[in-house]
Amino acid sequence: MLVTGSDILVPARAGQYGVASFNSNNMEITQAIIHTAEKLRSPVMVQMSEGAIKYGGQDLANIIKDMANRASVPVALHLDHGSSYASALNAIRMGFTSVMIDASHHSFEDNAAETKRVVEAAHAMGITVESELGRLGGIEEHIVVDEKDAFLTDPDEAVRFIELTGTDYLAIAIGTSHGAFKGKGRPYIDQARIAKIGEMTSIPLVAHGSSGVPAEIVQRFRGAGGEIGEAAGIDDDDLREACQHGIAKVNVDTDLRLASTVGIREVLFANPKEFDPRKILGAARDVMAQVIEHKLRVLGSVGKA
Ligand code: G3H
Ligand code: 13P
Ligand code: ZN
Repeated sequence: MLVTGSDILVPARAGQYGVASFNSNNMEITQAIIHTAEKLRSPVMVQMSEGAIKYGGQDLANIIKDMANRASVPVALHLDHGSSYASALNAIRMGFTSVMIDASHHSFEDNAAETKRVVEAAHAMGITVESELGRLGGIEEHIVVDEKDAFLTDPDEAVRFIELTGTDYLAIAIGTSHGAFKGKGRPYIDQARIAKIGEMTSIPLVAHGSSGVPAEIVQRFRGAGGEIGEAAGIDDDDLREACQHGIAKVNVDTDLRLASTVGIREVLFANPKEFDPRKILGAARDVMAQVIEHKLRVLGSVGKA
């Protein structure tokens, strides 16, 4: 069933498990997400970025909504990184049940003001809201505390931001970054900061940039002719720990981009004569399903729906 973000995330925060929010850009991605969640009895979120809305528009939103409505587990349709009040409202008009307003690059005051506007409008329509405080970006473990503080989320500010805005869930900067190159070896996550923010707040916290960039997938990508540099993602154990401390929504896009490309490449590499899109995109869907299953198990949402 199609539900709001809070319907899914509030129980996750209380139960100390994470719910994956996967980016979707087409039908096959959406099927892999929702069918795997149903198989594992897991709540899940499907998110479209503004880029995805530009690409798939209402057509794609309707596919996701229809699949969510028919799903045997709770599914929310979420706007990822909404850049303005207008963008958030547009998504609500399109039928999204959860929206993110990302004004994190503005001053604290401007971010809070813009977030509050979106919260008021969204709540009037029964939609729940994610906002962001702090700046996303990889940090090296050896960086001194002052430098980390400069862009990672400050716990006191998080408390004040939540009070000022009424945001339903909050994305915090904890050292993760978007994409397939999150640092060398095991990227550093500031667990102590998550724990402190978790203790001082009660709303669900959100981790962006949470792809694992699994070594096996990277290897298969290369094996099928793909080129990728020194890729690295967030370690499974680090995500498990983060969910113990208050992270309830875990954003994943890169892993599905890699997995779908692996599926496509492997089919075409092994069968240069193949041109049936169902064989090509079906293989992408299968590899994505494997990666999604792994993530849902890591986050502990399996069996929660
Ligand atoms: O955080 C960004 C997501 O990975 C979405 O990326 O804007 O290219 O769709 P996109
Ligand atoms: P990844 O690039 O790690 O998949 O993060 C995606 C994300 O945060 C989308 O908002
Ligand atoms: Zn993000």
